[in-house]
Amino acid sequence: MIKILIVEDEKNQRELLSSSLKDDYDTITAASGKEAFEIFEDDRTIGIIISDFKMDDMDGIELLKRVKRCAPDVIFILITAYASVSSAVTALKLGAYDYITKPIVIEKLKVILKRAVESYFLLIENRELKEKLKMHYSFEKIITKSPRMKEILSIVSRVSHSKTTVLITGESGTGKELIARAIYNASDRNDRPFIPINCSAIPETLLESELFGYEKGAFTGAVKTKKGKLEIADRGTAFFDEVGDVPLTIQVKLLRFLQFGEIVPLGRETSLHVDVRIICSTNKDLRKKIEEGIFREDLFYRLNVVEIHIPPLRERKEDITPLVNHFIKKYSKVSGKSIEGISNEAMRYLFSYNWPGNVRELESLIERAIVMSRDTIIDVDDLPISLKGIEEKEGDLALKMVEKKHIERVLGLQGGNISKAAEILGIHRNTLMSKLKEYNINRND
Ligand SMILES: Nc1ncnc2c1ncn2[C@@H]1O[C@H](COP(=O)(O)OP(=O)(O)OP(=O)(O)O)[C@@H](O)[C@H]1O
Ligand SMILES: [Mg+2]
Repeated sequence: MIKILIVEDEKNQRELLSSSLKDDYDTITAASGKEAFEIFEDDRTIGIIISDFKMDDMDGIELLKRVKRCAPDVIFILITAYASVSSAVTALKLGAYDYITKPIVIEKLKVILKRAVESYFLLIENRELKEKLKMHYSFEKIITKSPRMKEILSIVSRVSHSKTTVLITGESGTGKELIARAIYNASDRNDRPFIPINCSAIPETLLESELFGYEKGAFTGAVKTKKGKLEIADRGTAFFDEVGDVPLTIQVKLLRFLQFGEIVPLGRETSLHVDVRIICSTNKDLRKKIEEGIFREDLFYRLNVVEIHIPPLRERKEDITPLVNHFIKKYSKVSGKSIEGISNEAMRYLFSYNWPGNVRELESLIERAIVMSRDTIIDVDDLPISLKGIEEKEGDLALKMVEKKHIERVLGLQGGNISKAAEILGIHRNTLMSKLKEYNINRND
């Protein structure tokens, strides 16, 4: 029920209004403009104010002005004496919804109120819709000019409305999670949860209970029943990040879930039915993993109903300029610096680089450059040495030097994580360890 605040200094009139409206509305009263404003400040659920114009301490127009300043959506209806219609005109100009002249005909007021309530809800609904839409687009801000990426976006909009399982492949930092979220945002499940599960970060022993949950007493330490992520994601979407890292023992259970929509929490006799849309991503070659016997072929076909492959940044260099502009805007806002752009020379470096860390690497480079920049334009000086080094000094062009710098870069980008860096470099982690020793590279640099 919508809440109405009645403001009237004459007691009889106030009580009459209140009693004739209280069956249909939640009414509160105030005996003066000042009191009304105090009540209003404490209770922002008030949707409508009906106020007399002439009052001693604060008149209806002043109250209207104050209310509109803090809550423009509130519906304001002014009561005027027949003689002061000019104040009614002023009120309308200030955003009042309507006015009613004295003596008040209750039936007439009820008609005005009915219309007012309708428009109030429309206004609120509209605003909520707009907010939802805004959120939708801000999440979906995928910057691209590349025809291959545009093709991907059209696949995204085609698959989002079904429950089809999607496998997103691509190198690290190409935007796999961004695409997964875009599919979710455009789907009709977007009012239900999106649950990301990072399969490579969760140890094998925990992954099972994370996914499927457990019953109280299922194992030592299971002091209470815990819902698994798949149960939490019911009627929503689960995103399996790095699905290639799911161990074989859990792959079997995942397959069962994909086939029958059933999960069995640890320590439970019976299964649970859940309705979850699955999106997966991997930066590894799952087909190779199948050959090696560490990924189940049947699971692969279940996951790979639609495959979206995101090309690395070096294969879509037309995206570099729009991405750079986008990140400059984003981070100059964050840092409070007004960076206007980037010099042509700096751009040339960005184009000649091969971006092993893809869009993520470009993003952190721009973020850093903005912090470093002492000017309104990002210049070569603001770029990291490792990016320029390869072009700049001939002495540095010795193969070993280039290798050392490249390792340092990749390692830095991966936050010193040896396994991840080794993977990007395409070498075994032991090989990387010995190279770190050889080049005297400190992994925390
Ligand atoms: N086309 C794009 N437009 C705008 N931002 C992008 C785009 N592609 C990627 N990004 C940004 O780059 C970063 C990396 O993207 P994301 O996390 O989706 O990559 P990923 O492929 O999942 O990486 P990883 O394999 O390392 O998990 C994010 O901050 C993302 O917002
Ligand atoms: Mg990711």
